[in-house]
Amino acid sequence: MATERLLSPQPGTPDEDEANYALRPGRMEEYIGQRDLVERVSIAVAAARSRSDPMEHVLLHGPPGLGKTTLAHVIAREMNSRITVTSGPALARGTDLVSALQRLGHGDVLFIDEIHRLPVAVEEFVYPAMEDFRIDVTVDSGLNARTIQLRCKPFTLIGATTRAGLLSSPLRSRFGQTFHLQYYTVAELATILRRSCSLLNVRDADEPALLRIAERSRGTPRIANRLLRRVRDFSHVRAGNTFTPAVVDDALALEGVDPLGLDELDRSYLRTIGNVYACGPVGLETVAATMNEDAGTLEDVVEPYLLQIGFLARTRRGRALTRAACEHLGIPFKTSDSDESSLF
Ligand SMILES: Nc1ncnc2c1ncn2[C@@H]1O[C@H](COP(=O)(O)OP(=O)(O)OP(=O)(O)O)[C@@H](O)[C@H]1O
Ligand SMILES: [Mg+2]
Repeated sequence: MATERLLSPQPGTPDEDEANYALRPGRMEEYIGQRDLVERVSIAVAAARSRSDPMEHVLLHGPPGLGKTTLAHVIAREMNSRITVTSGPALARGTDLVSALQRLGHGDVLFIDEIHRLPVAVEEFVYPAMEDFRIDVTVDSGLNARTIQLRCKPFTLIGATTRAGLLSSPLRSRFGQTFHLQYYTVAELATILRRSCSLLNVRDADEPALLRIAERSRGTPRIANRLLRRVRDFSHVRAGNTFTPAVVDDALALEGVDPLGLDELDRSYLRTIGNVYACGPVGLETVAATMNEDAGTLEDVVEPYLLQIGFLARTRRGRALTRAACEHLGIPFKTSDSDESSLF
């Protein structure tokens, strides 16, 4: 249920994927924000191109919806190379990669999304490919087993992950460079929205209206673009195509999104801790049971943003609300003890 919500940073339906695809920046200069990262990637691309070498293997990590897949495509385009896209869970056996690797041309990009979900058997198979552009395939089994070595052309592996901590260290160490994507500022999100407006043919959106969407987008371009489409539809059907801050407020209030970008699930999570457990600390499992929600869902889709905006503290004895969260909910703030700041 929670994964279908409007504010989820995860991609939604296949239709949405397609809509996002159309909004994806194609070139480095269209890639908004992430200034330091863009600078470092541009240097790496320019250096590799001047030597006519493939770029070093790149690991991109950061929360969902911040533009890792987009960046992989941009890098391939700037390198003038082709990109082959696959993902960790799609690769069950090492040999699943053989034909993809063999089809790669010199300097091409192999993009592996969710690389932290690569099975161990595939991981070990990827090492020689990354290091020596060699593929070791075992044929036959038992006494007749032998290893055949195949070559592939020098290529660039781009791995993307939301959970860099889950990557094995041998795999992590084989990447020449690692880039971390940051949440976007409101101003950057507004710039992304302006660009999306022109691609979506939304002409009447004024700047304050876009800022208002940006403020509710949780620092995430995927959410910003999704809210923009909702407001556009609302404006079209209910507001005579006007697109002002008031229209944004009405459209998003209807969706249950508040001025901080919190939705009903976030609020009921906060209210549960605030009202039922006197602001905490309380264990995640207990909160989940009270809400009749899955603890993993709460941890993955609700807590990260609440932690980021300083509404939630993870203490040794469980989750606790901060003063800011209580003020936002309009409930009295209670400190039960002093371990609020002992985050882990
Ligand atoms: N820097 C950017 N400038 C403009 N638009 C962006 C930028 N980054 C992302 N977007 C937009 O956000 C959408 C989501 O980005 P993308 O699919 O690359 O995220 P992701 O990090 O790969 O997410 P996931 O972890 O879920 O795979 C894109 O379709 C694109 O429209
Ligand atoms: Mg992606």
